[in-house]
Amino acid sequence: MVNVQYIRQDFPILGTTVYGHPLVYLDNGATTQKPRQVVEAITNQYYTTNANVHRGVHHLSMVATDMLEQSRETVRQFIHAGSASEIVFTRGTTESINLVASSFCQQEMRGGDEVIISTMEHHSNIVPWQLQAQRKGIVVKVIPITDDGILLMDEYEKLFTPKTKLVSVTHVSNVLGTVNPVSNIIRIAHDHGVPVLIDGAQSVPHMPVDVQVLDADFYCFSGHKVYAPTGIGVLYGKREWLDRLPPYQAGGEMIGTVSFEHTTFNQLPYKFEAGTPNYVGATALAVALDYVNQIGMENIAAYESSLTQYALGQMSQIPGIRIFGPTSPSLTSQVDKDSIDKSQLSIVNCKLHRGSVISFLVGNIHHLDMGTLLDRLGIAVRTGHHCAEPLMHRLGIEGTLRASFGIYNTREEVDALVSGIKRVANMF
Ligand code: ALA
Repeated sequence: MVNVQYIRQDFPILGTTVYGHPLVYLDNGATTQKPRQVVEAITNQYYTTNANVHRGVHHLSMVATDMLEQSRETVRQFIHAGSASEIVFTRGTTESINLVASSFCQQEMRGGDEVIISTMEHHSNIVPWQLQAQRKGIVVKVIPITDDGILLMDEYEKLFTPKTKLVSVTHVSNVLGTVNPVSNIIRIAHDHGVPVLIDGAQSVPHMPVDVQVLDADFYCFSGHKVYAPTGIGVLYGKREWLDRLPPYQAGGEMIGTVSFEHTTFNQLPYKFEAGTPNYVGATALAVALDYVNQIGMENIAAYESSLTQYALGQMSQIPGIRIFGPTSPSLTSQVDKDSIDKSQLSIVNCKLHRGSVISFLVGNIHHLDMGTLLDRLGIAVRTGHHCAEPLMHRLGIEGTLRASFGIYNTREEVDALVSGIKRVANMF
């Protein structure tokens, strides 16, 4: 059970007003608000245990180092990686994908080799590959989607050739809310001997994820979308892949020994963590993951799924509204969750049609106009192309409004959104 009113008390910002209206924060796909526990963990560390990690014999440095490694272990458990050495701390999903694009292409790809992505990728899973296309002449192939925003799996299978070296797709679309069948995507790629990188930025905050059950070769997510601060994120990679790949950035801590003639590199995961890491961010990320774990990721998935279905039902009655992405009911409602164990649940969740994201347009009203007027009512939604311009081209639009939900959103807030949209629409 998710006790939303109890949870909301942990988020002081939710009690604020905007233009005299209670804040209705529906931009969680962009970033989530932070609970007191996370903010206090940051303050406490700076006040009591701040020191650089892995570098000192003094007490504070050793405590800070232990905290960093404990945080890594918390992340490992959260996504059920086999080893903490497979958890690399990064700045976020974007840096994680850039790391793989850079190191994987350097080591494993030659001109003419192919990477498969999809139509619904965020720019951060498009442009890094385009940079590699410019630098190394790799070829980017794209899985098409249906008008409802579902990947065409038959077309996906047809994209494989002997030159395919990597598949890189999102788990959940930040625009459409589509939950992609990543287990199938990975199985098909592995049948062709091809590894898979999954962008989990929009999945990890909303559903249980088990990287071993999925058999993902690489999986990444951002802290700030899962109630942690900005500037901290994770790249999970199977040990055999991380061992094979060259370093991404160079500097302190990623080396074994350095001489002007020859340098060796550190063991995993430090080989990929050049420079002073965001150790306070890592602590705060671990606190955020403990926080959502206490609520339970299954409970969060069920609650947000029900809230999203409610929102879809209410919003679909607004005259002239166009909702993008799959609108069929989520499959979780058809599954007896008690009859399956936790590891299976993550597979079930991969079959969900929709995450807690709803992109929409109303009549001919420009998304920026409606977003600006909703803001005057205290309702925060995102507007624009959502860093997914190729998807906008596929849908034949310039942009949308987007409401995206988190664990603290309520049906009353959905009602406020719906009446806000109707009120704004009546002005045009
Ligand atoms: N990727 C984030 C979003 O979809 C910023 O809003």
